[in-house]
Amino acid sequence: MNTRLFALGLVGGLTCPPALAQDDGQTAFNNSCRTCHTMKEGDNRQGPNLAGIVGRKAGSLPDYNYSSSMKQSGITWHEANLDQFIANPDQVVRGNSMKPYGGITDAAQRKTIIEFLKSRD
Ligand code: HEC
Repeated sequence: MNTRLFALGLVGGLTCPPALAQDDGQTAFNNSCRTCHTMKEGDNRQGPNLAGIVGRKAGSLPDYNYSSSMKQSGITWHEANLDQFIANPDQVVRGNSMKPYGGITDAAQRKTIIEFLKSRD
């Protein structure tokens, strides 16, 4: 066996897991959220941008036209309420306008997305 190739394979193997986790988060975000959201400050689409969303007050971007339900929710986003919100938005902010959105039932997938949101804060 070619030892140099073997060493390369080893390095690849060692650096792979964290890169993969990041990719998983990006992919899950792209599949479920990117139709309406970006992670870029100032870049609002159908939904508000989610830059720094963990720790941000709900409905607080001045340049986005939120529903009054979201503006008046009085909550600040953290991991637990984000988890509930992306499972079932109406359970956290009744009357919100994040639609059409079916909710993510898979807890592991929600966790992957929230880790991704945090990593981009
Ligand atoms: C169909 C479009 C759409 C999809 C898909 C969508 N959203 Fe939203 N999202 C919105 C809209 C519109 C709002 C504003 C809701 C309001 O004002 O009531 C919103 C609001 C939010 C908020 C509150 C933001 C704030 O500034 O308070 C969070 C957090 C959020 N979305 C996260 C997500 C995540 C995470 C996903 C993917 C799992 C997702 N959304 C998928 C359209 C969408």
